Amino acid sequence: MPGPLLDTLKGVKQPNAPIWLMRQAGRYLPEYRELRAEKGGFLELVYDSEAAAEITVQPLRRFAFDGAILFSDILIVPHAMGQGLEFLAGEGPKMSPTLLEVELHSFTPAYERFEPIYETVRRTRAMISDQVTMLGFAGSPWTVATYMIAGEGSKDQGAARLLAYRDPARMQTICDAITEVSVAYLRGQIDAGAEAVQLFDSWSGSLAPDEFERWVIAPNAKITAAIKQSHPDTPVIGFPKGAGAKLPAYARETGVDAVGLDETIDPAWAHRSLPEGMPIQGNLDPLLVEAGGEALPERCLAILNAFKDRPHVFNLGHGIGQFTPIAHVEELLAAVRG
Ligand code: CP3
Repeated sequence: MPGPLLDTLKGVKQPNAPIWLMRQAGRYLPEYRELRAEKGGFLELVYDSEAAAEITVQPLRRFAFDGAILFSDILIVPHAMGQGLEFLAGEGPKMSPTLLEVELHSFTPAYERFEPIYETVRRTRAMISDQVTMLGFAGSPWTVATYMIAGEGSKDQGAARLLAYRDPARMQTICDAITEVSVAYLRGQIDAGAEAVQLFDSWSGSLAPDEFERWVIAPNAKITAAIKQSHPDTPVIGFPKGAGAKLPAYARETGVDAVGLDETIDPAWAHRSLPEGMPIQGNLDPLLVEAGGEALPERCLAILNAFKDRPHVFNLGHGIGQFTPIAHVEELLAAVRG
């Protein structure tokens, strides 16, 4: 029996908007921090299916979310493609060697790294109610490529944007390789029990219009088409963060079933501009949840109201911050659930 989140993603408006939060499992939860300290690090958690399934369900014990998002990371794909990956405490991911230093074909693939992730999905699915939707995910090729090229996060993704201009053929090879591996990875997650998948294009906002077509729309369309071919009933959520005015083209041209909005998008504009009936996910500012106060419930109601005439999944515009008080998440849920 599909729950309200899955029904919404399939285009069936629910009387109450279902809700899940990006990064709902993570550092704002003391039980996460405890398990992370015990296991010694982030990657140790991700590759330990028992721990990762436990972390995936931790937020569901506190809050009645309608979805459980697989606890993993978008950078597991480059790691399985053979690039070195480390998460240094407080510094974010570091990958080596970078694609500025070596060619992609110098990596030795280690696709067996996907196996524990699939096992996390199977374990989680067995732990949650059938009304809770199991969500899988992958990073979109452009966003994953920005990390593989620079070896770390960057403010403007300059290294990847330069490479794309200087050597578009090489950039195409990189994006095609990420696309191919991501399709296999997403299919594996769905076969293991993921009922919908989200494509995170966190850095789509840094691209000029033609570049956005080539490096965001085209690869997301390719992944979506491949998933539709093998798993036609599994909804695909596209989240092109920062896409702004390019969202309507993204929504029309990629073939995704639902679109996630970041917090900078005016919900009324999105409702007017995106295809009629297409489910929209979003888009409360995660910093408003951290700040709390009267504006929090007000803004929740304004977002719900803007999407009252189309399928809507309540979510944040980006991941929940690590300093967010748990009481504010409770207030958010109370506001959304009415
Ligand atoms: O949403 C969820 O709860 C599922 C798990 C998830 C994580 N990362 C766990 C995580 C998902 C879906 C992601 C996606 C991800 N990872 C993205 C796309 C979405 C976004 O946030 O823009 C990106 C760009 C990454 C890469 C990444 N992972 C960075 C840059 C960092 C360090 C900075 C940060 O935000 O912590 C991570 C680490 C990471 N991924 C943590 C978690 C819970 C924190 C690890 C820790 O310190 O314990």
